[in-house]
Amino acid sequence: MIKKILVIHGPNLNLLGEREPGIYGDMSIDVLNSNIVDRAKAQGLECEIFQSNHEGAIIDKLHSARKEFDGVIINAGAYTHYSYAIRDAIAAIKIPCIEVHISNVFARDEFRSKSVIGPVCRGSISGFGFESYYLAVQALAEM
Ligand code: DQA
Repeated sequence: MIKKILVIHGPNLNLLGEREPGIYGDMSIDVLNSNIVDRAKAQGLECEIFQSNHEGAIIDKLHSARKEFDGVIINAGAYTHYSYAIRDAIAAIKIPCIEVHISNVFARDEFRSKSVIGPVCRGSISGFGFESYYLAVQALAEM
């Protein structure tokens, strides 16, 4: 049973609200995080949130998550499309991992339509704005 979840935001997501608002919206990561925590609490889940612009830091966090958390939600940002190291880290840990994207990655640049982490995640949610994260919280809660 899933009780404790980790949310990982990858590179450039710290700039939410300022960064390409036409694509990612005008709300900050702080607003997103507090909404995620509220949604998790409402589903009876404990939730920690981590953001890093660094591939190795994300991998270290995934490794430590395997003993501390029951599930992971990850928006790996652009690493989604080419980081075999993050893919391998997700494959190495046994807890379920859900891939999320704010934008619809299939409706944008060609390179974004490929996810190297998708095949090792339990499922993927893309294109619903911040709601993508809330849907992932619900999916973990119901697992
Ligand atoms: C993103 C989509 C990626 O292609 C992009 O590099 C991001 C954000 C999203 O949430 O829509 O940084 O993961």
